[in-house]
Amino acid sequence: MDKIKFFTGESIPLEMHKARIVQSLNLVPIDRRVAAIQEAGNNTFLLKNTDVFLDMLTDSGVNAMSDKQLAAMMEADDSYAGSHTFTKLEEKCQEIFGTQYFLPAHQGRACENILAQVYVKPGTVVPMNYHFTTTKAHIVLNGGSIEEIPIDEAYQPTSSHPFKGNMDIQKLKEVIYNHGADKIAFVRMEAGTNLIGGQPFSLANLAEVRKVCDQHGLLLVLDASLLADNLYFIKQREETCKDLSIREITQAISELTHIIYFSARKLGCARGGGICTAHEDIYLELRELIPLYEGFLTYGGMSVREMEALTVGLEETMDETVINQGPQFIAYMVEELDKRGIPVITPPGGLGCHINALEFLDHIPQQQYPAGALAVALYIVSGVRGMERGTMSEQRDENGVEPLADMELLRLALPRRVFTLSQVKYTIDRICWLYENRRLVEGLKFVEEPKNLRFFFGRLAAVSDWQEKLVAKFKEDFGDSL
Ligand code: F0G
Repeated sequence: MDKIKFFTGESIPLEMHKARIVQSLNLVPIDRRVAAIQEAGNNTFLLKNTDVFLDMLTDSGVNAMSDKQLAAMMEADDSYAGSHTFTKLEEKCQEIFGTQYFLPAHQGRACENILAQVYVKPGTVVPMNYHFTTTKAHIVLNGGSIEEIPIDEAYQPTSSHPFKGNMDIQKLKEVIYNHGADKIAFVRMEAGTNLIGGQPFSLANLAEVRKVCDQHGLLLVLDASLLADNLYFIKQREETCKDLSIREITQAISELTHIIYFSARKLGCARGGGICTAHEDIYLELRELIPLYEGFLTYGGMSVREMEALTVGLEETMDETVINQGPQFIAYMVEELDKRGIPVITPPGGLGCHINALEFLDHIPQQQYPAGALAVALYIVSGVRGMERGTMSEQRDENGVEPLADMELLRLALPRRVFTLSQVKYTIDRICWLYENRRLVEGLKFVEEPKNLRFFFGRLAAVSDWQEKLVAKFKEDFGDSL
């Protein structure tokens, strides 16, 4: 369904739901915000939510549930083994993906752990359209490495390419040729490619990837965590899919892959994860590890209530009116910022609005984490919490060398059905003010740097007193406004 047309010519997304439960928000004064971010080691992950106004850190586990999801939670069948709740979830996965086998896991990265333990051996390689932080960490932990081979447009912050998450087929062939098919653990495609701005792949591209996999006897694994947005974009942007239903597109995607795994904190708007496959041999091999790491096969670390919510959430994902909400709000935010000359990733993707920090703060070297500095600055001036997706989210190699990220993004996630249009407009307003005053923002440096996934709990300091100057300018312009 296209955006609703307005008589007055407005172009705004329209919520196709009503709020029936609300949660109060708190916008603490700017002096508290600057103290809070310093207490949090200039890492937005370490802020306490009581200090946050609009939490745009992630859409993981924080999408709004529907009344039907909540109602289903009350019906959960609480049993360790043989839970009927699990059977319902298993049947829903069989129905929408057309895959016979389902393995439950406590979240997406747990699925990655199991896949990496089974398939990644020292010296093997996983070609992929783009990595996700936890995916890469598990592959590397098992002695493997990754090769990122998206199409060139993936790295161009502004583009009109509708499918920047596509894999470069020629590069895939080269990777297989260079390493030898026996060294390829599996090929991985990520739906709604997270770290390059929530960009989708096309069904046609997935079919081409599968063709190459078949030529070399390789497994094709789909990370379907952000599948909902990707489905919407395929329907909207891929000519040959315009007349297909979301359900038909899902089936077509599934038929092209050997294994589908997902974070149910994203797909299905619940919490948990799972692995689906139509192949008994794959199922039996992966199944070994579920009781070891996740729990018994009929819950896999998920609470029965979450499984009930997930079953309904997966069904709701097949409804275009439900899944268009995220992308349409994101498109609004991206287009409004773009109109005002703020560097954002285009075309608008899923998950959230991504600001190109490399351009926004082009005076800050990547070694001083421009995207991290922008996340901190935006929090100070608005109480909005975003997430750094750049060099801070990278990991040092075995020689301690810090790789510079391909892109420096500030991700402002829009969890589905959580924020109103006026909250989005407030965020746009504060980003515009910050853009006017961007020269006041300077970089960050690590003062405590964990070895693995350092962005989660590393602590940083400002390289100068720029935060105090930013606060002074804010007060000058806004007076006693929060
Ligand atoms: N794959 C993708 C594409 C993801 O976006 C995530 C999580 C995972 C796997 C891991 O799933 O969190 O359930 O273990 N992304 C979150 C985010 C953390 O904020 O984007 P998980």
